[in-house]
Amino acid sequence: MERTLLIVKPDATNRNLIGHIINRLEKAKFTIVEMRMVKLTKEEAGEFYAVHKERPFFDELTTYMTSGKIVPMVLEKENAISDLRTLIGATNPEEAASGTIRDEIGESKQSNSVHASDSTESADIEIPFFFS
Ligand code: CMP
Repeated sequence: MERTLLIVKPDATNRNLIGHIINRLEKAKFTIVEMRMVKLTKEEAGEFYAVHKERPFFDELTTYMTSGKIVPMVLEKENAISDLRTLIGATNPEEAASGTIRDEIGESKQSNSVHASDSTESADIEIPFFFS
């Protein structure tokens, strides 16, 4: 059984969409094994997104990720990492496949409602960031 990290981002928590996202995850047979609600500091957001620190949108991204509460959770399923990436859709909601979570509720490239680990290497770093 594989584990991955999903984060409900501030645009979704602000619109009361936590339950909706959880419902989509459970319908797709993901099991929630850990979950928290947190508000990151700018420093913590920078640490989490360290791989993007040279990107032009880094400052905007870390400001956005600290603009409200987020809900990180650890999800378990066979092929959890790739199945979750398929379920959430492309980074840009305008390019996300029909019926994916970002297609359904994402607002923009930045406010795209959810984050998911993109590889086993990322999951191995991202899960312990929130859950010891
Ligand atoms: P996420 O899957 O959390 O990984 C990195 C995040 O950076 C991404 O989702 C988007 O929220 C954000 N992002 C990626 N590209 C851009 C961009 N061009 N402008 C603003 N934010 C972006």
